Amino acid sequence: MKSCELILALDMGSRDEALNLLKEIGPDLKWVKLGLQMFTAHGPDWVREVAGLGFNIFLDLKLHDIPNTVAKTVQSLSHLPIGMLTIHSCGGVEMMAAANQVRLHQKPDLLLLGVTVLTSMDEQQLRRVGVPATPPGQVHNLASAVVESGVPGLVCSAKELHLLAPEFGKQLQFVTPGIRPLGSSADDQKRVVTPGQAAASGSNYIVVGRPIYKAESPREAVRAINMELA
Ligand code: C5P
Repeated sequence: MKSCELILALDMGSRDEALNLLKEIGPDLKWVKLGLQMFTAHGPDWVREVAGLGFNIFLDLKLHDIPNTVAKTVQSLSHLPIGMLTIHSCGGVEMMAAANQVRLHQKPDLLLLGVTVLTSMDEQQLRRVGVPATPPGQVHNLASAVVESGVPGLVCSAKELHLLAPEFGKQLQFVTPGIRPLGSSADDQKRVVTPGQAAASGSNYIVVGRPIYKAESPREAVRAINMELA
């Protein structure tokens, strides 16, 4: 089985709360995901600050615009100390390819990720926006668009990996949220898998938020997940 690494989703309202959590967890954690909420509130300096603590940064901004605008935004972001960045794959092959060209020239080590179908979308919601496919069918359509664009990875549910890993596993890295260790609350996630199941299905990285930052001991929660992944 290939290796699978843990990413903590730092979905907290307050900077101080987030910094205290990171200090408490310490060196067992390597990757932190910063989303739109914190980036909008605290800006690029927040990214530099968390990176300065020694963490690798997954900047989850889910960019979705015309090719020129997304490419220029990736160009601006390439000056930040980030290791992963998301764009929406439904922005199209041309848009993803333009973003990827900037990555190749400015920051070839950046793992650019195409977000596939949001887990908040069901079949009815997809139809309402003119997509006749089922969610797994649409994830597969978008995965082949990601490969065509040259973008090196995607975000999907680990439940969909059996459809993607055999066909695209050599070309793409897979990042999967919706992870719950056995015994933890599913919260608002509908289709959850355990860290071990996600790794066995072919995830390269799992994204975990509440089961860590709401745990009695976040440090122990990180250690337990790392043990399961190993
Ligand atoms: O707290 P929890 O482990 O559910 O957090 C999951 C993280 O992954 C959140 O930051 C959420 O926005 C993100 N995510 C997700 N489902 C997707 C894409 C991203 O849960 N399809």
